Amino acid sequence: MTMEDIPDIMLIEHEAFTLPWSEEAFRNELTHNHFARYLVMEHKGSLIGYAGMWNIVDESHVTNIAIRTVYRGLGLGKRLLRAMMDWAIELGMLRMTLEVRISNLAAQSLYSKFGFYPVGTRKGYYSDNHEDAVIMWCELPQREYGEEEEGSEWD
Ligand SMILES: CC(C)(COP(=O)(O)OP(=O)(O)OC[C@H]1O[C@@H](n2cnc3c(N)ncnc32)[C@H](O)[C@@H]1OP(=O)(O)O)[C@@H](O)C(=O)NCCC(=O)NCCS
Repeated sequence: MTMEDIPDIMLIEHEAFTLPWSEEAFRNELTHNHFARYLVMEHKGSLIGYAGMWNIVDESHVTNIAIRTVYRGLGLGKRLLRAMMDWAIELGMLRMTLEVRISNLAAQSLYSKFGFYPVGTRKGYYSDNHEDAVIMWCELPQREYGEEEEGSEWD
């Protein structure tokens, strides 16, 4: 993700989330947050999805992942999450965590396919409707040095 992507990110953000991040928040992520890594998914020159994480020591915290509504259900969320997990592994991360709304069964199902498991809840985490967050963790598979890149553990 670059600064030029942010206007398109705003479209996805407002479509996907009831508590969307601001342009300023994304600018800050790209310029000041040294822990942050963001990637975008493009189709025919248009931005159709993005995902982000904070990598701290050996733990990666997913900040957000979203696919434009018309492109959902086509396997692109899986591709995007796989790409971000591969990136985290490359960066030396051992574990990944995230929070997800307790009502967001689609996202929970996506995460569980990649080895995420629930470990608890944060009560009233979301300020719009005080919904609980499910906390999920996953152990990232580690590649031996020189191991073939092709094929992920979760293919
Ligand atoms: C969550 C999100 C990124 C998934 O992207 P997607 O491209 O639709 O997902 P995929 O087509 O790759 O599907 C991946 C898996 O997610 C689950 N899933 C996706 N849509 C689903 C739905 N409507 N109902 C139930 N499960 C669903 C399934 O487990 C699916 O795997 P399957 O195809 O093998 O059944 C997308 O729905 C989205 O942008 N949602 C809004 C933002 C959001 O909630 N982000 C997560 C915040 S924690």
